[in-house]
Amino acid sequence: MALTDDDGKIRLRHSPYSLLAGLLILGAALAAGLHLVGLSVALSIVAVAILAYQPTRSPSAGLAPAGVVGEPPQSVDAPRDNIATTSAALSAIDIPLYLIDHRENIIFQNAAAAQSFGGIEPNAHITTRLRSPAILDCVRETIAKGNVNTVEYTERHPSTRVYLVRVAPVVTGTGRPTHFVLSFRDISESRVVERMRSDFVANASHELRTPLASLQGFIETLQGPAKNDPKAGERFLGIMLEQVQRMNRLVDDLLSLSRLELKAHIAPSDRVDLLPLLGHVRDALQPLAASLDVEVVLNLPTEAVFVAGDRDELIQVFENLVQNACKYGQEGKRVEVTLNPTEGGHGAEVSIRDFGPGIAEEHIPRLTERFYRVNVEASRSKKGTGLGLAIVKHILTRHRARLIVKSEIGKGSVFTVRF
Ligand SMILES: Nc1ncnc2c1ncn2[C@@H]1O[C@H](COP(=O)(O)OP(=O)(O)O)[C@@H](O)[C@H]1O
Ligand SMILES: [Mg+2]
Repeated sequence: MALTDDDGKIRLRHSPYSLLAGLLILGAALAAGLHLVGLSVALSIVAVAILAYQPTRSPSAGLAPAGVVGEPPQSVDAPRDNIATTSAALSAIDIPLYLIDHRENIIFQNAAAAQSFGGIEPNAHITTRLRSPAILDCVRETIAKGNVNTVEYTERHPSTRVYLVRVAPVVTGTGRPTHFVLSFRDISESRVVERMRSDFVANASHELRTPLASLQGFIETLQGPAKNDPKAGERFLGIMLEQVQRMNRLVDDLLSLSRLELKAHIAPSDRVDLLPLLGHVRDALQPLAASLDVEVVLNLPTEAVFVAGDRDELIQVFENLVQNACKYGQEGKRVEVTLNPTEGGHGAEVSIRDFGPGIAEEHIPRLTERFYRVNVEASRSKKGTGLGLAIVKHILTRHRARLIVKSEIGKGSVFTVRF
């Protein structure tokens, strides 16, 4: 929407520098990722600049009804160009926003607002677009008192989005503000991240609390009823050691995850030959495989296969995958690790196949979530923390590689890493 008066002519009465400054700050705010403070300052200055335009024929009319963005100016007329540029600049902001007057009529709607909430008639009352009582209360309070108000607003259709709605007066001097900006900051994603974080803390605490409670119970038994029972004492100490080891594994995995998060955006620069690396993983897991009566078979090409990677992290990836294949696919008695260079020699694919019970389809997309386990007891009894595949995913993301999981119930699973 552009700003035009009733016969389409607008004259610039005030300095164009305020408009220019507004646009420059707006540009800076956009470049800085639309920081809220920068955005608010820019919006206010641009809005002030808009308000500085007055139609010559009907000066009392103030801001005229909204038109359509992108309408070409009808003549070569600098003020009209500036208005078009200003409306286009506001429309370039990807946060929905409205400019309303003190009668709650919408004078301007940017493109993001039209896209998110639909188009409107020029000069429409705000209630034709927004029905939320909380937002309307905010608007009324800002109009009455001239202060800034914010409120959270959830839109349910077509999909659930949570917005932080801010109503701010456009302060143009010492007089009472006559125009107000409503902006809608989409906070849906940060809400999801917040929820994931609090779930994660709750899960981690729960995982630590179980072995801690068990340790406390054994210590109390050893101090009381089993005080003079050396046999029971020895057995309990064995269980207590297992619990402490479990907590150690958990803390190690949690630290691994947080270290990986810190360097998630730094791609590894070393070149690693996957041939000896996979040999090393097989050797390291030989004792575990033997104890589970599983044979780990390597299918490797004869030539070296290099990928960009961090050796220790890639060892962690393949150890996790081969360990899972041995533990959860134990009854298949065989695990195959196959390395294939991909076309042109620029990439590689490593697949780890087991012949165990397989994984039901509904679990597959969730396997890399922290603490997600198909069967919690089975995982715990196999010394799992539920963080192995989350660590794998983090490392692979940093390596710009992908994890592809295919599984068939009763036949086994294939975990493929594609570089
Ligand atoms: N090869 C596999 N076969 C069957 N289930 C698997 C396999 N690999 C992983 N899983 C399932 O995925 C879950 C998550 O794996 P992971 O993140 O390594 O955690 P953990 O092994 O510590 O439980 C495991 O608990 C298990 O249920
Ligand atoms: Mg695991």
